[in-house]
Amino acid sequence: MNHCTAEHPPTAWKSGTAPGILPSVTHGISLIRRPLHFLNSLPAHGDLVEIRLGPRRAWVVCHPRLVHEMLRDTRTFDKGGPLYTRLRALMGDGVVTCPHEDHRRQRRLLQPAFRPARVARLTEPMAEEAEDLCRDWRDGQEVDVSAAMMTVTTGVVGRVLFSDALDPGRAAEVRDCLTTVVRGLFVRTVVPVDAFFRLPTPGHRRYTRAVARLRAIVDEVVTRRRLAGEARDDVLGTLLAAADGPEPEVTGREVQDQLVSLLLTGAESAALCLSSAFGLLDLHPEAEQRLHEEVDAVLAGRTRPALDDLPRLVYTRSVVDESLRLAPPGWLFTRLTTREVEFGGRLLPAGATVLYSPYLLHHSPGSFADPERFLPERWRGGGEAGGDGGGPYSAMIPFAAGTRKCLGDTFALAQATVTLATIARRWRLRRPPGPVAPVRPAVTLGPRSLVMRCERRAGQSAPAATPTGARTARPGPSSAVSESREAGATGVDDA
Ligand code: HEM
Repeated sequence: MNHCTAEHPPTAWKSGTAPGILPSVTHGISLIRRPLHFLNSLPAHGDLVEIRLGPRRAWVVCHPRLVHEMLRDTRTFDKGGPLYTRLRALMGDGVVTCPHEDHRRQRRLLQPAFRPARVARLTEPMAEEAEDLCRDWRDGQEVDVSAAMMTVTTGVVGRVLFSDALDPGRAAEVRDCLTTVVRGLFVRTVVPVDAFFRLPTPGHRRYTRAVARLRAIVDEVVTRRRLAGEARDDVLGTLLAAADGPEPEVTGREVQDQLVSLLLTGAESAALCLSSAFGLLDLHPEAEQRLHEEVDAVLAGRTRPALDDLPRLVYTRSVVDESLRLAPPGWLFTRLTTREVEFGGRLLPAGATVLYSPYLLHHSPGSFADPERFLPERWRGGGEAGGDGGGPYSAMIPFAAGTRKCLGDTFALAQATVTLATIARRWRLRRPPGPVAPVRPAVTLGPRSLVMRCERRAGQSAPAATPTGARTARPGPSSAVSESREAGATGVDDA
């Protein structure tokens, strides 16, 4: 294990330029067709590497320490650049996208809903959603795992935001809209030519319809809550209290923007993390075996974990961490400099686009031993066995760092651990035979149409009929399997 790049920066940063004939064309094409390969090729050219996004220059930060320096200086490196320009069109100026100057107020407003004590109370609903999902699976059935994980995560995020206001039908609609929207976002980011996206192609129309429908559903929920006049202990309740008080702190528009922002960031990334984990476990039976042993021992005959079990699901959590390392759902982000700044050996002008990539850092041999290998054991004892040991300049940043670190990190980790344990208690998921296609990055990274076959684990009998009073199963993808298996390309996935 080599910590040297993270802990000991070079005495002088090295900056460089990514090679390529006609870089304004070829870099964009590389980012669309082979983005992960392109990103991993950049550190060879420096700690800060200049690329072209169409006619624009942009800089990719390739050293973990430099990434942390950038993420800590949110005043200079503000949310902005092509990704956030696109996201703002979708989410307005909610907490994910708002500029530095408004961030502290928004974060303070929303933070309480994601504190560890509140997340702890959600363990039960998380396990319930996971159990609802897999209760009716049948031995040998093919399941669209990507859609199934979106069902679970949309359900849980929906509960945090709106309590039980999203009925199963609406939740399924939200899930489908979110899937369409994230597929369309990435190409809109790396091809920043608006006229192209106004062409009435089926993909563009699908994207526009999904955005409008998502906003309409959120609007409906807000209106119903207002009419009911009830105060609920959820994010919508917090937002309405701030909007409708004698001295309103937020506008009606902001209420909607925050809800759309949280739905979009919360459901998709968590679902991709889980789908990646199941895909990786299928390829690594020895890790799957260890997971099953741990889950069986900790649950000791119960069908799902409770809050007290979480600290003992150590290997399960390592599987989650290792999946997040190998396939971080948030793999590429942009920032915009607000002033001229000396950074990474260059003088960047105000308004410069700077990119950082958790994927690039997570796959660096300078930070992780044998970085392409799936090895949950590396997180044993906090990462001493091939993780990068943590620390202030850790290269493991699936949730970013600094004041704009993910608001839902504790929530997402708890949900992934609980869902993985609940499903693995009964089921083994297997890919049907055939080549394993590489994952296709979009605005997020992870398997988007992963179809797997359920095998009931030995000794796990078919479940009893749903008990009276149990929640009705959500209309999900458990029986409706997507036609398309994982598409065989590493290129960008777009609607
Ligand atoms: C495995 C799941 C998740 C991953 C990998 C993830 C990753 C990230 C990353 C990398 C960022 C920083 C983006 C940047 O630097 O530009 C971020 C921000 C954010 N995430 Fe997550 N996220 C996950 C789940 C969630 C969940 C469940 C929620 C809430 C329901 C959430 C809410 C947010 C919010 C609100 C921000 C913006 C924070 C701010 O600017 O203050 N995320 N997330």
